Amino acid sequence: MHISEAEKESEGKAVEIRGWVHRKRGSGGILFIVVRDSTGIIQAAVKKDKVDAKSWEDAQKATIESSITLSGTIKADKRAPTGFEIDANKFSTMHVSEPFPITEYQSAELLLDKRHLWIRSQRMNQILKVRSIVFRYLRDFYEQKGFWEVTPPLITKAGGEGGADMFGFDYFGEKAYLTQTSQLYLEALVPSLENVYSLVPSFRAEKSRTIKHLAEYWHLEAEAAFYSNEENMKLQEDMISYLCQRLAKEQEALLEKLGVDKKTLGVVKGPFKKITYSDALDYLNKHGEKKEWLDDIGTEDERILTEKEDKPIFIYKWPAKIKAFYMRADPDDPEFALCSDMEAPHGHGEIIGASERIWNLKELEERMKLFKIDPKNYYWYLDLKRYGSIPHSGFGMGTERVIKWMLNLEHIRDAIPFPRMMNRLEP
Ligand code: 4AD
Ligand code: MG
Repeated sequence: MHISEAEKESEGKAVEIRGWVHRKRGSGGILFIVVRDSTGIIQAAVKKDKVDAKSWEDAQKATIESSITLSGTIKADKRAPTGFEIDANKFSTMHVSEPFPITEYQSAELLLDKRHLWIRSQRMNQILKVRSIVFRYLRDFYEQKGFWEVTPPLITKAGGEGGADMFGFDYFGEKAYLTQTSQLYLEALVPSLENVYSLVPSFRAEKSRTIKHLAEYWHLEAEAAFYSNEENMKLQEDMISYLCQRLAKEQEALLEKLGVDKKTLGVVKGPFKKITYSDALDYLNKHGEKKEWLDDIGTEDERILTEKEDKPIFIYKWPAKIKAFYMRADPDDPEFALCSDMEAPHGHGEIIGASERIWNLKELEERMKLFKIDPKNYYWYLDLKRYGSIPHSGFGMGTERVIKWMLNLEHIRDAIPFPRMMNRLEP
């Protein structure tokens, strides 16, 4: 049985668990062995005069991270780390571990080199559980909304964000790239399925070593038929609210282990504050920055804009000039794109990029010319505007950025088991 199940048994009940040695101490005739499995940890007391000779020998040999089986009786014990203890009557090792290379107080660099071992730590185990739950909740949300999950290709001929910062490679003699967004493929799926989403990796060859950039990240992207940008923003707000509300309601214990008060997620409910790009610049200029029209909003700006916020905010009405080629200009005010970014509170930065898409062929061709994008590589994307084109909107959300914010992690690398960063390709 799992440790979590053993703890639910009544006092004196026989239990048998398998797992790994988490900690070990003791001397003379008694050993206290804290065992770990996927569900948690529990202390076992192995006493020389209570077990057979082979069990005692195995328990003595068992090093940290040795894999073991043990049986005994469960009892509540206030002195044990989790309040429970197993009084062992049998103990055996499956594998005696070599000296484990990770001990307390290791450098971040060593923990990254030993990532394949570090993911066994209690903290990583708990973060990985939250990650799995977040993916599940996202899928539940879209199922409820009637969206279809789709699987776009990850190997592509051209970029969906214009093509900068892409990983290129040889594809049977032809130049190919790892996808930087699945958006254009989602748009192609709209006339078939109408409302779609995907949860697959995107790749960015950005040469930035920051606490919020990964070279490979899991991108939740959605595309919805006949949605205006307003409706698109409402969808994002509903999704983030759903995620936070459900985590606060159903995952209190797990959050607490990670030092997250469920209240910080419980307050995240729509409506979210909406400010225009222009208001954002004014605010920044009143708070010590020197921003000019058409400047991008950078990491420090994001911090200033959101440090006092408890909920994400939208920044909308961006000048079309500094946004992507596929974004539809506001027909009433063509200098601006019908788009928005969602910024996480407390300076965690941009978590969502969104827009209404251009659906008129001429308009798209003109934008591509302006952005010096070769239409040859986008023949199929242009076709979408030739055959039954419709208004539609969509967005992309970096799941690791969202997890980083919700768990208040220092660095995005801990939101994913095997981070790929500029200076990190192994393990
Ligand atoms: O803002 P981005 O570049 O937008 C797009 O790719 C659109 N095509 C999405 C769409 O409309 N379907 O990226 C979207 C989100 C960002 O807001 C951020 O959360 C995340 O992807 N992101 C990254 N996350 C981790 N590491 C990186 N290097 C990231 N780059 C973007
Ligand atoms: Mg963006």
